[in-house]
Amino acid sequence: MSGIVGYVGNRSSQEILIHGLKNLEYRGYDSAGIAVSNEKTIEVRREKGQIQDLEASLQLDPILKGNLGIGHTRWASHGTPSVTNSHPLSDTNGKYFVVHNGIIENYRELRKGLVADGVDFQTDTDTEVIPHLLAKYDTGNYLDTVRQVLPLLKGSFALAIMCSTYPNTIIAISQENPLIVGFGLKEGFLASDISALLPYTKEIYPIKNNEIAMLTSERITIETLDGEPIHPKKVLIEWDQEEIDLHEYDYFMLKEIMEQPKTIKKTLEGKIKNSHVRIAELEPLLNQYEFHHFEKIDIVGNGTSYHSGMVGKKVMEQLFRIPVEVHISSEFSNEHGHLSNRNLVIVLSQSGETADSLSALKEAKRNDCVTIAITNKKRSNIARIADYMLLTNAGPELAVAATKAYTSQITSLILLTIFLSQHSDKTNAYDYTELLDALVQLPDVVEQTLIMTQDAIDSFAQVTNDQDHLFLIGRGLDYVLALEGALKLQEVAYLHADAYAAGEVKHGTMALITPGVPVIALATQAHLRGKLVSNIRELKTREAFVVGVTTVGDDAVGEVVDQVLYIPEAHPYLMPIVAAIPLQLLAYYAGTVRGYNVDRPRNLAKSLTVE
Ligand code: F6R
Repeated sequence: MSGIVGYVGNRSSQEILIHGLKNLEYRGYDSAGIAVSNEKTIEVRREKGQIQDLEASLQLDPILKGNLGIGHTRWASHGTPSVTNSHPLSDTNGKYFVVHNGIIENYRELRKGLVADGVDFQTDTDTEVIPHLLAKYDTGNYLDTVRQVLPLLKGSFALAIMCSTYPNTIIAISQENPLIVGFGLKEGFLASDISALLPYTKEIYPIKNNEIAMLTSERITIETLDGEPIHPKKVLIEWDQEEIDLHEYDYFMLKEIMEQPKTIKKTLEGKIKNSHVRIAELEPLLNQYEFHHFEKIDIVGNGTSYHSGMVGKKVMEQLFRIPVEVHISSEFSNEHGHLSNRNLVIVLSQSGETADSLSALKEAKRNDCVTIAITNKKRSNIARIADYMLLTNAGPELAVAATKAYTSQITSLILLTIFLSQHSDKTNAYDYTELLDALVQLPDVVEQTLIMTQDAIDSFAQVTNDQDHLFLIGRGLDYVLALEGALKLQEVAYLHADAYAAGEVKHGTMALITPGVPVIALATQAHLRGKLVSNIRELKTREAFVVGVTTVGDDAVGEVVDQVLYIPEAHPYLMPIVAAIPLQLLAYYAGTVRGYNVDRPRNLAKSLTVE
């Protein structure tokens, strides 16, 4: 969601800000704006819609050229998407200019107080209180003023601020909401995430809670809120520009689907040796706790990460002799059962910044649970706060819809399951050799699946073009897969897709089955196929149009469905990965055939930093 960029140096800031904002587009937004300073004057331009609209407006009616500026893509949370509500926002006299990500939770009280002082608010945003507070508490010293105001703000927020009386300085804050400083030669950069910095620098410093960063072309200084200087430990970005380029693809979503053989290989890299799973970053966990210390495992996540967690739960509970529960993060952070140091809480988050998952993690920590983050972002808040971290290593995922993140999360969860079992007596007797071999083969199997299914799915997507509703059914792990397939179709094809445990359809949903209604029946779990075939027959009796997804060699499903799609067979625990490929492709082709921008579905954002 919303993105922040900033630049100070000797180049024209406008180009760098626009370019940076384009690299943050994937986060999702509905308006964009920049403020530029030529060290005398600050000028602002904001537009509703795409960055191209902002660019067009700047071309048609240019603003001043300057070497310092801040920019923002806004994903509306308080107030509709409009030019007025977009950032940068300023105080009445146009002294302070602010771009903001996150939520100011106490903005209503603050606004009330400011209105009582006579301030005339221009927007419906929570952000607008900030420039007005800066104006109210202005001490004449920029940094001091910011210091006065920060303690008044409650919530999680990242801020970049400009001040007309200090036109060569940007002040930046990152309070539970990411903001990264980039170091150049006599220049400084700011961005919500590293994809905006990749073309300019590889040296970064993620600003931490209770720190203030000041950027001028001469230097970047970091201090604590109390004024203690911090010597920022620069870190090197591991991702390359090459990884965030589209190459020959029209959309990142397809690029990321096709990358999965490679990304799964990266997730597995260095972790399987001599028929053993080694996860170096989790060794300290087992040095500190014997596995039998834990009485329960709780897995939390949202959306696709929640679905990966459901797969993890189903696998873990078959192998461990302790209960495993999976929770939607936003529910867990508010209500949960008894928690203690004997709960191992696993937080799944691709971005590592999802506010609901961050809250769930904090709740787990408040209750003394031992926490592991499984994330794709090493320097995210969730990675930082969790006791232990397992990196999925899937590389940047820029399409809003998660694809490679999902398959890498499940791969990580299975690695983690085996790793924990190797150190436990609370496991069921299970020979991992077959599963380990299957994991090693998995990248090739996924590659084969892409080759086998891409064309068939493309043509199936063309014929679903006139459908508004679709059902997916499955049993066991296939039910979880159905949920994930439905989510993808909703997100990128705006298709009303619903997932059901196959046995459940007859308990109500059957009333919706009329002749021709498309149903995708997932049949990858050989031991559940017999009952699934009966469920398909029930649907066929009502003349649904059923497409079966099953493994090569199975004849039973092909006999009862209208169309069948064969995929390679892998270990049953890995089928939610293999069979996700055709479902991801279906969502992609169904979205593109309808003419949608599948990378940036309406109303959605990549990294949801509000609860
Ligand atoms: C769906 C999707 C979302 C995310 C969810 C959690 O395609 O991308 O449902 O999975 O918002 O995001 P992370 O994993 O970043 O916490």
